[in-house]
Order: sequence, then structure tokens, then C-alpha cells
Amino acid sequence: MNELVRYERRGQLGLVTIDSPPVNALSGRVCDGLGKAFETGARDDSVRGLVLACAGRTFIAGADINELGGDLDFREVFALMEGMDKPVVAAIHGTALGGGAEAALACHYRVAAADARLGFPEISLGIVPGAGGTQRLPRLIGARQALELLLSGRFVDAGEALKLGLVDAVADGDPLEFALEYTNGLIEEGKGPRPVGEMSLHRDEATGEFLRAERARLAGAADGRVVPLMDVDAIEAALDLPFAEGLVREREISDASLETVESRAMRRLFFAERQTSRIPGIDPGLASEIGSAAIIGAGTMGRGIAMAFANSGIPVTLQDVDRPTVDKSLAAIRAEYDKRVQRGRMTAEAAAARIALIQGSAEFSDIAEADLVIEAVFESMAIKKEIFERMDAYCKPGAILASNTSTLDIEEIASATRRPSDVVGLHFFSPAHVMRLLEVVRSAQTSDAVLATAMKLAGRLRKIGVLSANAYGFIGNRMMDPYGREAEHMLLEGATPQQIDSALERFGMAMGLLAVFDMAGVDVGVRVREAHADKLPDDPGFYRASALLVENGMLGQKSGAGYYRYEQGSRERHENPAALELFEREARRLGIERREIGDDEIVSRCICALINEGARVLEEGVALRAADIDVVYTAGYGFPRHRGGPMFHCDTLGVARVVEKLQEFSETLDARYWQPSALLLRLAEEGGSLADAEAP
Ligand code: COA
Repeated sequence: MNELVRYERRGQLGLVTIDSPPVNALSGRVCDGLGKAFETGARDDSVRGLVLACAGRTFIAGADINELGGDLDFREVFALMEGMDKPVVAAIHGTALGGGAEAALACHYRVAAADARLGFPEISLGIVPGAGGTQRLPRLIGARQALELLLSGRFVDAGEALKLGLVDAVADGDPLEFALEYTNGLIEEGKGPRPVGEMSLHRDEATGEFLRAERARLAGAADGRVVPLMDVDAIEAALDLPFAEGLVREREISDASLETVESRAMRRLFFAERQTSRIPGIDPGLASEIGSAAIIGAGTMGRGIAMAFANSGIPVTLQDVDRPTVDKSLAAIRAEYDKRVQRGRMTAEAAAARIALIQGSAEFSDIAEADLVIEAVFESMAIKKEIFERMDAYCKPGAILASNTSTLDIEEIASATRRPSDVVGLHFFSPAHVMRLLEVVRSAQTSDAVLATAMKLAGRLRKIGVLSANAYGFIGNRMMDPYGREAEHMLLEGATPQQIDSALERFGMAMGLLAVFDMAGVDVGVRVREAHADKLPDDPGFYRASALLVENGMLGQKSGAGYYRYEQGSRERHENPAALELFEREARRLGIERREIGDDEIVSRCICALINEGARVLEEGVALRAADIDVVYTAGYGFPRHRGGPMFHCDTLGVARVVEKLQEFSETLDARYWQPSALLLRLAEEGGSLADAEAP
């Protein structure tokens, strides 16, 4: 029908196959081809039924996100499919997502491969489905279940889809052959078209109550998201309006969702996350495969990294100085997998297979054969250099030597070896088997092949690799510095930890910064600052609150108190009067005026500091692109995805307004911290976008 959609006869059936790699996304061309294919099938009287299938790795994985917001419209072709006077069956394999699931709903019957999955991930792109999904889905599986799927965006497997009534049969064997047979069976049984749009749906009291409660819950979430509520609007339309009118209403809602900041932010992140691995000037073809890895240091970090490798099927040796340390670490890993098995997240066999991939060792020589060795020991330059010297002596030629340092100079670490071009920073985030961010740190000597391999490895570990230059704090922690500086200083000025964290959480941060410090250990940051004392400003109030806590033995959750107080075995935050008293006394000593600080000021100071430092990170070339910085903050630091990351959020606020705010702070607060970066000043003057900016 065109180069992306084929039509062929299979006996009495017409088979429509989409072949648009990589994921058969619904583009304008695909819609065109689909329309023509179904028209052909409709015209041919000898065709008694139609099957819609896809070539390649998956059934349609969604609308082509590149074309959303433009002329792309597949409502008409779905109406054509649903209106056919012979049965239309979707043969689903891989992932039928978003527009792909909507296409399946426009068919009269659905059969799925046993390992297929279906879902409506539009919520994670800030979109309300707009091609009949919100009107057909509740007709098929009920309003409650439909709303749950739309709001969670979760994928359901074939078994659950069958139970829900989302699919009619699960294929045993090849899904296409099964679908063809299934359709022939329908014809034999005299079963004709069964348009989902004609199925009845009524509002009853319980459903009404459920929707009211959901609406109240979402409105109360106070993180500023609007699209979830628009999903409720769409489901209400399905309940209250005839199908045709519901489709019109859905279209209005879906179009409006595309215009939201939330949607623009999240669609940009979708592509930004897939772009970070592309490094200008470096051919991805240089990457080699990592067949085995070794981790030096079996602490929390090393353990998490080892699990990340095992989870991706890569054998890994976990090495530490003595056997008891190694055994303790292996036991903790087993316990972690056992927990997952108990919670039904993993089968016992899968857990055993992963555990079997992790070997413990107390011998340094056991790292010799690994393709990649990652050092994950205590954050001390002297210790790391000593370890790298030994790695150099033991590792096979061509092995990649990586450090998991979060603050130290990779080039200096590499200088301990005779092969600095094989040395790279791989900064994992804790817990390393869960967190998706991986900062890949390049020194001036790191070879292109090593960088290409590191990026490929990130993908294999199902992480997002973001390139950073070798500069203090890399991208993420460097930006954290001024962000935390403001939060800490406001404690001396009179804000409580609760106030600061709640304001940040209402803004949408996954967790308030002070609660994060408590979780990580307040002493961790204090130690890092001590190690870099020569670079710190001459300011007695600089990160003074955390230093005070540590001086008084309040190290955070692990010691039962930090910015907050914790009951034994619980992570619930309680006010810590002892800490508040320390802050107040210190403020008096330093002559800092105490006052009421509002939520707006808290968010504005923290986020403007973050934005300004991000702009510096970019203009100094530490990050390649503003989008990379946004990926770091959303994937690794809990910045709300619906605000797109700090750089995108700057554009939302308006670059000129952010500069004004920085200038205002430089007059009312400590001027040395608030000089707007040159990049922001230039963009404000030119009316440019920070989100689109790249390193010079
Ligand atoms: N529109 C445009 N491009 C898409 C796409 C879509 N809906 N879905 C995937 N792609 C592209 C990706 O950008 C990537 O391109 P690249 O190789 O040039 O970077 C390529 O397809 C492969 O996708 P990737 O995510 O790397 O593959 P994966 O195997 O890890 O995951 C999916 C496959 C389908 C699960 C995943 O791509 C996905 O979730 N896609 C979006 C689905 C969605 O949200 N649909 C709703 C839209 S209405």
C-alpha cells in the first residue's frame, strides 16, 4: 500500500502488515498506508476477514512522537477499521503501546502473543490518548480499570490483558499464525464485526463515587500536574456521552494536553534520554561488548553495581580485601534478591540465575580477566591511586579501568596507571541496581573507543549514560552544591527543615533535599567539603547547618537524628528540636537575622541557584547539552519530569525573569553567590532558549 504497510491475501483473509522499523510507530505515512490497505480489504468481496499485524520486534509501539502536535491524525483510519463489515483482528506481539493499543482497540478482536504487553504510557509523555483510547478502553474493560491504566501508564502482560478483557485470546505459538486461525474460526462460527465503540457503558453510583474520589486525590496532589485530571475528564466523557460525541470531547482534551508545559517537557525528555549516548565526533561503532566485569570494593555501592551487572546477564566478580567482608556483601545481595522473590517480583529461578553470575573474591588477581574493572572504594584520592596502580599491574591489556568516584579528579586517578586512555569515570547513583542515571566521565586522555563502550554498556545495564567532563562534582553534584547551599542557609535564617522540604516536594521534587541528606548521611557531604576545603568560599554560614549536625553526632537516619528525628527502624521524619536549637543559636552567633521565609522564596532560591549553576556547567562544557543536564536531574536527582528538568524549567519561567530574580537575590542576599552566568545573560538579551542550548 506503500513502503511501510503491506496488504496480502491469506486464503479468505486479508493480512495488513506494518513494517516501519524500529518500533512501527504510527507516522503520517503509516496511517496513509493503513487507510489504503483497509480500503482494499473492504472493496474485495472475496475477503471475509482482516488481520492487522506488524513485522519486526513489536506491534505498533505508539504514535510517532516526532509528529505529535502536528497534522498527524489516525482517527479516521481507526474509524474505517472499526466500521468494516467483516471481522478485523489485531495480532499483537511485543509491546502495543499508546496509539498502538488504540489501534488494537479499533479492531474488533485482539489476540496476543504469550509474552506481549499492552499499555497506555501517554501519561509519562503528558498526553491524554486522542484516537479513541479513552472512549473505547472503558467500554471494553470498565471505567475504573481504564482510568487506572491511563493514570499509571503501566504495561499489562497477556495473561492480565485476557483477564481484563483487553484481549480475547492468548496465542500458543506464533501470534500471527494463531491470529489467522482465530479469524478463520470466527468466520466459521458466523461471528462478525464487534466494534468496541458500540459496546454499552453506563455510569453507576459506585463509579461516580470512584471518579469523584480520584479527582479529589489528583487535585490534592499539589505538584502542579494537570494531565492526570484531564484523563478523568476523558473517562467521564466516555461515561456520559454517546460514543461519537465522546470522541469529539476526547479530541479536545487530548489536543489541550499536547499544549501543556507538562507534555512538552516530557516529550522532550523522551528524546533527550535517548540522545545522551550520542557523543559528537565519536563513532558508536567503536564500542566493544563487555563480556565480564569486576568491582573492587564490596560496600553498598559495589554491591549495587554488581547487581546491576547481574541483572543484565553480565558475569561479575565482587572483590574486597578479606573473605568475611566479601561474604557479608554476597549475603546482603542474596537477601535483596530473596526479598524480591518473596514480593513476587521475580521467580526463584531468575533470582538464582542472577546470584550465580556474581562471584566473590578476596584476591586482587581475580580481576585479571575482566573486560571492565570498576573501583568503588572509599572516596580518597590516595586510596584510589593505590588501587589504580594495582589495577594497572593486574588487568589484561585492553581492559577498561573505571572509577565510581563522585567528586575526584579522574585524570589524577588515571595518572597512577600506564594506560590513562583506558581510564574513565563511571559514576553510579545509589542504589546502583535501581537508579537509572550513569555519569560517564571523560578525562582529556580517555579514548573514543572507551567512551563509546561505556555508553553502550549504560544501555545494556538499562541505564541512561550522560557524558560529563572531568570537573569537580561532574554535572549532578556540582549543581547540587549551590542548591544545597541555599537550603542550608535558610535554616540559619529561620526556616525549618520541614518547611524547606515540603516546599520543594510541593514543587515536585521526589524528596526534599534535607531529607535526602539525612538518608545519605549528613557526614558524607561534610567530609567531601572538608576534602575540598581550599575551594570553599570564606563564609562562616556556608553549609554550616550540616557541619553543626555532624559536630553534634547527628548524622541523619543512621544515627536516629539529623535535620529530622527518626524513631528506631522507621524513616518517618519528625521535628528535631535539638537541631532547630543548634541552628538558632548559630544564627545568633553569626549575626544572621531570623525571619519568616515563605514557600515561594524557598523554591525560588533553591531552583534559581540550580538553574544558574546548570548554565555554568553548560558554558564551561562540562555537559554537552542543556538536555543532558535535564536528564541528569530528572533521572538522578528527583527533579519532576513534568517540569522537564532545571534547564527546561528556566524557559518555562522565562530566561529574562530568572536573570531578574538572580539580580534581585544578588542585592538582597549574599552577592557573591548570585551573579548570573554569562550564558543566561546572553540568552536573556537575545530572547534565546536555555533548554535548547549546547556547550560552546
Ligand atoms: N515515536 C517515535 N520514535 C519512537 C517511538 C515513538 N512512539 N517509540 C520508540 N521510538 C524510537 C526511539 O526514539 C528509538 O530511536 P533511536 O534508536 O533513534 O534512539 C527507537 O525507536 C528504539 O526505541 P528504544 O526506546 O530505544 O527501544 P526499547 O527497545 O528500549 O523500547 C519501547 C521500546 C517501544 C518500549 C519504547 O521505545 C517506548 O516506550 N516507546 C514509546 C511508547 C509510547 O510512549 N507510546 C505512546 C505514544 S502515543
